[in-house]
Amino acid sequence: MNPQKIYILGIESSCDDTSAAILSNGKVLSNVVASQKIHELYGGVVPELASRAHQQNIVPVIDQAIKQAGIEKKDLSAIAFTQGPGLMGSLLVGTSFAKSLALALDIPLIDVNHMQAHILAHFIDEDEFEKPEFPFLAMTISGGHTQIVKVNDHFDMEVIGETIDDAVGEAFDKSAKILGFPYPGGPLIDKYARLGNPKAFPFPKPKVSDLDFSFSGLKTAVLYFIQKMVKENPNFIEENRDDICASLQYTIINILIDKLKKASKQTGIKRIAIGGGVSANSGIRKALKEREQKYGWKTFVPKFEYTTDNAAMIGIVGYLKFLKGDFTNMSVVAKARAKF
Ligand code: KG4
Ligand code: ZN
Repeated sequence: MNPQKIYILGIESSCDDTSAAILSNGKVLSNVVASQKIHELYGGVVPELASRAHQQNIVPVIDQAIKQAGIEKKDLSAIAFTQGPGLMGSLLVGTSFAKSLALALDIPLIDVNHMQAHILAHFIDEDEFEKPEFPFLAMTISGGHTQIVKVNDHFDMEVIGETIDDAVGEAFDKSAKILGFPYPGGPLIDKYARLGNPKAFPFPKPKVSDLDFSFSGLKTAVLYFIQKMVKENPNFIEENRDDICASLQYTIINILIDKLKKASKQTGIKRIAIGGGVSANSGIRKALKEREQKYGWKTFVPKFEYTTDNAAMIGIVGYLKFLKGDFTNMSVVAKARAKF
């Protein structure tokens, strides 16, 4: 082992992905993700089943991450884990495991905020991926959150806008469920949207003041629209699948881009980053790149594997906190509603 190297084990278990990663300084040596297929049967994440699956997965996932990185447990410098926000039962598995392993190895323990990690994933060392300069705006778009954050420094972040009801990932997943797609439907809407006409069906855009978002009205509009059309033509969904997906995705992207435009104007910041599961969406990635020229923005889109939940993003926050000597202790507890 190189003595100059800091090896961080990152552990993520906030929702339905069990993940472990090893980072050597800012570089990812391994990033293992075990997704839980069981929830597909229920059309959404079942918290009790998620925590049980985390318990089954956590030991093999961590073991594999350490092996893939080519190191041994005794080489670890610290353990970073997701403290919250997330599902309590899921968070407890990662938190307890991280505490026990840090105690056994007698190394520092680092608590990480999941949403902060989605943003700081941009600071993982990756060839061809530039790190944003401060200050920048970060839009976190996931299954549980939709926020616009002003990032002044790694650990100086201000939420300047957020959803007042559903998260954008829920708008994708709940609409997908109405269309009869399995959970999570976001990636499927993305896939079919590429084949359809985005202007085929106009869906309403919510009127929410300032930099906040609302997605519950859109979900209801999709439901009523589909119910009405299926009544007229029972094959409406099958015959128009691609156009429905393209139109829905187009509406969602416009809502997101409009708010980013407003936030950029209000703050004068033109560096824009996105993070969270929905940042995997090909439409939002393309729309952002197109706006670079139009609005003079510089945009930052994470590497695909760091968009949906993963432990590499927890590891990078662990590394940045390690450099500051910002550790927690054995009295730390999981927090379902952690804020930053
Ligand atoms: O960040 P994430 O893995 O978990 C949370 O912290 O919530 O985000 C999961 C969300 C799900 O709603 C999923 O449907 C959505 O991200 N998602 C997508 C795509 N890939 C994942 N939504 C639209 N297009 C995609 N390609
Ligand atoms: Zn997430």
